[in-house]
Amino acid sequence: MKTAIVTGAAGGIGAAIATLLASSGATVIALDRSFTGVSEQATGAGQVLSASFDVTDEAGWAGICDMTARRFGPIDALVNNAAIFNPVPFLDESVAGFQAVTDVNQLGTFLGMRAAATLMPTRGGSIVNVCSTGGLRGFSGAFAYSTSKWAIRGMTKVAARELAHRNIRVNAVHPGLVDTPMLGENTAESLAGMTASVPLNRLASPKEVAHLIAFLVSPGSEYITGSEFTIDGGQTI
Ligand SMILES: NC(=O)c1ccc[n+]([C@@H]2O[C@H](COP(=O)([O-])OP(=O)(O)OC[C@H]3O[C@@H](n4cnc5c(N)ncnc54)[C@H](O)[C@@H]3O)[C@@H](O)[C@H]2O)c1
Repeated sequence: MKTAIVTGAAGGIGAAIATLLASSGATVIALDRSFTGVSEQATGAGQVLSASFDVTDEAGWAGICDMTARRFGPIDALVNNAAIFNPVPFLDESVAGFQAVTDVNQLGTFLGMRAAATLMPTRGGSIVNVCSTGGLRGFSGAFAYSTSKWAIRGMTKVAARELAHRNIRVNAVHPGLVDTPMLGENTAESLAGMTASVPLNRLASPKEVAHLIAFLVSPGSEYITGSEFTIDGGQTI
């Protein structure tokens, strides 16, 4: 794996993925709307090019494709990881709130997969869509978020079928509770309650999720496509 794009790379899981892939020698194009400008940094045996980017920006994806193709050539992997979490129940959700979550989580994943398909050479590549256990069940209290993650599961399967003839693999990862800023709005008490529902009795670290994703972009997973991987300490057993 030589070159990868990771979205939401300033966040907990995204930063862990970018660091892990670069430390094993990859060039990582790390995209996040909270980055400022463009910067480059050697990381382990590889490098990370960080750029301010909004995954909902269709024209921006064309620019990323141009820049990537010019500077690095074809890519081997895309990790669609950027997302927003909005803890609003179904009956309280507004059209604007629903749209905002759908735009980042679902549309952003679609645009990313489409861009990656143009940047993947004839030898193929690997796309990993970061979903959630909130997309495995009816996650009450976060209607738009849960809905968007269910949608990404469907998009993963359709894209996996349509891109298989080009040897582009598309898989989904479902983290449970991961110790990142996304959980930040929870009180210590509610976090303790959530952790108690996990058989392994702790949160995942971002690095643990990154290791699963690193496997899915590695040659060791070459026969895996259209599949879903839950990493939740047993919470959904
Ligand atoms: N933390 C958890 O418990 C948990 C559980 C299940 C799934 N996930 C999923 O893991 C992924 C990573 O989440 P995290 O926990 O690291 O959260 P995080 O909030 O730390 O990181 C998300 C990152 O996405 C970026 N982002 C948001 N909107 C963007 C946009 N429009 N364009 C570009 N970047 C944007 C944010 O700036 C942030 O850096 C998400 O897809 C999330 O749904 C997280």
